[in-house]
Amino acid sequence: MTIDLSQSANVVIPQADADAPIQFFDLKAQQKLVREKVEKRFTTILDHGRHIGGPEVDELEQKLAQATGAADAVAVGSGTQALVMPLIALGYGHGDAVFIPGFTYNATANAVLLAGATPVFVDVDPSTFNMCPTDLERQIKAVNARRDLTARAIMPVDLYGLPADYTAIQSIADAYKLRVIADGAQAFGGKQDGKWVGAIAEITGTSFYPTKTLGGYGDGGAILTTDKEFANVLRSIRWHGTDDQRKLSVRVGINGRCDSIQCAVVSDKLDIFGAERQRRIAIAKIYDARLEGLVPLQKAQAGAENGYGLYTIRVENRDDIRARLQEKSIPSAIYYDTALHQMKAFEVYAPAGGLPECEKAAREVLSIPMHPYLSDSQAHRVCDELETILRP
Ligand SMILES: Cc1ncc(COP(=O)(O)O)c(C=O)c1O
Repeated sequence: MTIDLSQSANVVIPQADADAPIQFFDLKAQQKLVREKVEKRFTTILDHGRHIGGPEVDELEQKLAQATGAADAVAVGSGTQALVMPLIALGYGHGDAVFIPGFTYNATANAVLLAGATPVFVDVDPSTFNMCPTDLERQIKAVNARRDLTARAIMPVDLYGLPADYTAIQSIADAYKLRVIADGAQAFGGKQDGKWVGAIAEITGTSFYPTKTLGGYGDGGAILTTDKEFANVLRSIRWHGTDDQRKLSVRVGINGRCDSIQCAVVSDKLDIFGAERQRRIAIAKIYDARLEGLVPLQKAQAGAENGYGLYTIRVENRDDIRARLQEKSIPSAIYYDTALHQMKAFEVYAPAGGLPECEKAAREVLSIPMHPYLSDSQAHRVCDELETILRP
């Protein structure tokens, strides 16, 4: 079956009643669509007994590559592994600098450090929340002036589902001879210039954490790449660096496997992904139209399409606004209230002078409900309440 990420034939996404409680995410509503299929899959897997490395792994990998246009896909145990493994494969470690945005989930920095390399934080663009190409170049020049670090790779993050500015970043990468490993954990279903996340950068890591746009029923992730040979190196690393017989170690590796059950779940969810994506876009259109001018919104650069893992606005008096939304039973969440260079684990890597836009974003961002099972009328209710609070 061919997967089209922009539509799913014969899949109807149910819409909640206007007065139904609003959920921030709604995995229960989604489960109703896939549960029967998933239960059958569990039975099949229990029967064949290949819980690790079953046929479901190849099935998912083929579907992911076909759907995104990547040359190959490697299913792994988590989004974090999907970032660590390419760094291991490229041989980066002690003394190697990997440039990451300072405003992202901590997994991005952890991945670099787990590989043994050094994260170099880059400020974000205030309108996209993604890595700022101008600051990236400044930080690369600063590293190139140091003796203790060698600039090796850029790991942009597609925050909230919006692809980073890969056109600008790739030209900087080319100019300074750096590799690009995209952290697309939040952005499966995003696009740039007609290319899906997974086929934009040469290497992309994504996450199947349950609340992601493509989530499993447990941990999982995938590495998508434009290079088939690189994918086979990753397959070896995923199985402790072993050879084709999975016996002798030919390189250092880890247990980076995604089990058959998670691959089956994600594979089934891919079948409804196109229809879900259409609903995410429809909700975002309502929010865009009603909130534009009321609060600053995340702006996509030319040619980019947000995958809408989250819908995030900027507000001042965030605690007060959240409390007032909660009074009206509208859930909200903060991704993230602290920039990475301000966290204890990473503060030794903080650049002199800090990262002003990351710090400001951490003070102001507020994510409002975004999922395919939110109805149009519920989205309007969210906007009604925000208007009442912000335009009294
Ligand atoms: C930006 C980003 N990178 C990496 C990860 C790590 O993914 P996982 O939790 O599947 O390891 C996440 C997950 O939340 C994320 O949001």
